[in-house]
Amino acid sequence: MLSSLSSTISRLNLFCPKPSIPHSLSSCLKTLKPQPIIPRWSCLHSLSTHPTSRLSTSLKPQFDALVSKDDLVVLGIETSCDDTAAAVVRGNGEILSQVVSSQADLLAKYGGVAPKMAEEAHSQVIDQVVQEALDKANLTARNLSAVAVTIGPGLSLCLRVGVRKARKLAGSFNLPIIGIHHMEAHCLVARLIERELEFPFMALLISGGHNLLILAHDLGHYIQLGTTIDDAIGEAYDKTAKWLGLDMSRSGGPALEELAQEGDAESIKFSTPMKQHRDCNFSYAGLKTQVRLAIGSHNINPEIPISSASSQDRRSRADIAASFQRVAVLHLEERCDRAIEWARKIEPSIKHLVVSGGVASNQYVRARLDHVVKKNNLQLVCPPPKLCTDNGVMVAWTGIEHFCMGRFDPPPPADEHEDYVYDLRPRWPLGEEYAEGRSEARSLRTARIHPSLTSIIQASLQQQ
Ligand code: KG4
Ligand code: ZN
Repeated sequence: MLSSLSSTISRLNLFCPKPSIPHSLSSCLKTLKPQPIIPRWSCLHSLSTHPTSRLSTSLKPQFDALVSKDDLVVLGIETSCDDTAAAVVRGNGEILSQVVSSQADLLAKYGGVAPKMAEEAHSQVIDQVVQEALDKANLTARNLSAVAVTIGPGLSLCLRVGVRKARKLAGSFNLPIIGIHHMEAHCLVARLIERELEFPFMALLISGGHNLLILAHDLGHYIQLGTTIDDAIGEAYDKTAKWLGLDMSRSGGPALEELAQEGDAESIKFSTPMKQHRDCNFSYAGLKTQVRLAIGSHNINPEIPISSASSQDRRSRADIAASFQRVAVLHLEERCDRAIEWARKIEPSIKHLVVSGGVASNQYVRARLDHVVKKNNLQLVCPPPKLCTDNGVMVAWTGIEHFCMGRFDPPPPADEHEDYVYDLRPRWPLGEEYAEGRSEARSLRTARIHPSLTSIIQASLQQQ
């Protein structure tokens, strides 16, 4: 069976620009103008798919006026990992509601995300989370302009729950649907909170599954300056926290950050990863091994929770936490320093570094990176912690950004079969790798990787 969401971003015919707009379509624009809410899907669809009607640059302002940002209202749904999140955001950036249901019990029980359990937990709460987001926004689905949903990267089982819900809702209410790249959403939410943030800019995206250094040229056009060759920093925080017997119910990061404040960050001399590699890639597997060895040599028993540890034991754990954090973040600092140098060669006009993703909610990380950014005469843009960890706002906002460029899919059929095979992209790069920065140390598994968001968008632009 054909996949469904395949085309949100890859659908070639939904892109601008082309020079002329047919008369029939401009009358469609006019009839739409007085409507208080939203461009109705049917008109936008005919506008954007008509062979001669893709918006020209000169028509873009008309389109923007038509799709008045105040009138656009988008629901964002996020289920790529363990958080079930939904939010309603207006085109002008006003957050009308935000709901997150996290899987604290499961995280505490398994010390991490177990995909099958996570899928069940998403399924149990998704309807409620979406309804609450609509209720808090004082809206019904009828009032929405579109539904945005994360289609990758992430856990297939979990992504499916969000996509199923989004398509059901969009099908029932005849709403366009926008498939979202999770890491692009982490990046672009910075443009919601910082209106001055214009392309091009740099971004460091740090989460449980990703460590990405990117140059954001434009919406949908990203160059990957660096990525991890093994684990992401969030994974290293989580494992270290688990081995130190910390409370995992909010994931390991926040608990480790707290404990590190009690410790001596210089007490254990962990070595900084990839010193010999003069590139912008990351590695955290070796640091995890160093931590494990230190835990063994300090006779720490992870089965004994920190709350029951003796004061001496607690002290040792705090020292390991602080020493780990210092080196884990030093690795980020060194890579950012070099990435800024590289990015300036490509785009000398860069003014901002965005730091986002779950780990960016860490205050120590923010402070250290602020230092790096200031030293390089740039400005740091770091969303508030609630918008750094997984949330529906970032998905809704990224949906708005793409929707305004005419990138979206038609409403799915209202009676879509339960067995429909969705286009989910569990492994989906954001951009193409910067050729000069390709690392010999990198041996990424390439099997089953979806073509990058950037390559899809660039290819479709070239075909116009
Ligand atoms: O972006 P996110 O919410 O989900 C993924 O896309 O992975 O990031 C989750 C990761 C987890 O590894 C979590 O431990 C980490 O972000 N994290 C933190 C903090 N808060 C969340 N790491 C360090 N310090 C924190 N305060
Ligand atoms: Zn995330």
